[in-house]
Amino acid sequence: MSQVIDYSEKVMDHFSNPRNVGEIENAAGVGTVGNAKCGDIMRIYLDIENEIIKDAKFKTFGCGAAVATSSMATELVIGKTVQEALKVTNKAVMEALDGLPPVKIHCSLLAEEAIHAALWDYAQKNNITIEGLKAPVEDIEEIVEEA
Ligand code: FES
Repeated sequence: MSQVIDYSEKVMDHFSNPRNVGEIENAAGVGTVGNAKCGDIMRIYLDIENEIIKDAKFKTFGCGAAVATSSMATELVIGKTVQEALKVTNKAVMEALDGLPPVKIHCSLLAEEAIHAALWDYAQKNNITIEGLKAPVEDIEEIVEEA
């Protein structure tokens, strides 16, 4: 029996017309994360000046929900401070997209983790500590299983 997944209009919009696709040369921070189970990979580039995220771009080799969540996540972090960007959780991304079906929640976690990984890279490069930021995990399946 095939399962029909119902996506919100916003998810379909961000999947069909993803914002901020691409890469940033000499980005202040780059984060790449993957999920071993579905094989999807997401990379987020951040341009940061004076602790403000000036620009964000992404490349996602993954499912439609992963593309939509990366698109929305980059939209949400642009213009935010590093601290504010930390609060762009997978829940916040899902809410901004008017929800995701339960089987696709891990896709939004990939977006949160990619942002965190990019911020971590930025902190490492600049020798700073970002309060509340943990080292990125290699494979987000670890967090999904803990949740
Ligand atoms: Fe794995 Fe969407 S199915 S990221």
